[in-house]
Amino acid sequence: MRITPSLLNADFANLAAEAAKVPTADFLHMDVMDNHFVPNLTLGAPVIEALAKAAPQPIDAHLMIEDPDRWAPQFVEAGASSVTFHVEAAHAPVRLARELRALGARASMALKPATPIEPYEDLLPELDMVLIMTVEPGFGGQKFLDLCLPKIRRTRALLDKVGGDIWLQVDGGVSVETIERCAEAGADTFVAGSAVYGADDPGAMVERLRRTAAAACAH
Ligand code: DX5
Ligand code: ZN
Repeated sequence: MRITPSLLNADFANLAAEAAKVPTADFLHMDVMDNHFVPNLTLGAPVIEALAKAAPQPIDAHLMIEDPDRWAPQFVEAGASSVTFHVEAAHAPVRLARELRALGARASMALKPATPIEPYEDLLPELDMVLIMTVEPGFGGQKFLDLCLPKIRRTRALLDKVGGDIWLQVDGGVSVETIERCAEAGADTFVAGSAVYGADDPGAMVERLRRTAAAACAH
């Protein structure tokens, strides 16, 4: 069970200090938005490069941007260990995933809530992770969409069929209330933004989320 806190709702003026509050985080999830693919604008490769130098945890860059084919490689150069592009925006997802891996990063493909996984079954061996969005991307603090649970289950089944060690990440509205449903459906990697950074003790919340997910999985 991997917990990847999103710093979207952390204090952007103190990112290194915010990262230090979650020392056991498996990755720091950084949400890159371009005001075109989603109606919000956040940060780019220079900020990721600065945080990669300042924080010990590896960085999981979630690119909610148009034309990731052009821009994603520079996030690897900036120090991201894992780079997620949206399949709705990618022109050549196979070529892009291969390029990210060749540069030494984990390659990950994200799906918005209305995007089905089935057309991408044959691409799965090219990936290290699939991200199923459980809100419409663009903002933190939105309500978890239960309608995504069947897709998480279907994705788990496809990943089991393909074999290997492809992670299944969920992002959006993940909290102690909703993480069990995600884990039961087959997710193993969990983004949590407001649940972690809205907690009095973000570090303790990371461990609480991990325990809750593991317990749900053991059932
Ligand atoms: C939303 C982002 C998420 C966001 C999650 O588009 O991709 O990573 O930060 O925030 P919460 O956990 O508050 O839904
Ligand atoms: Zn995200």
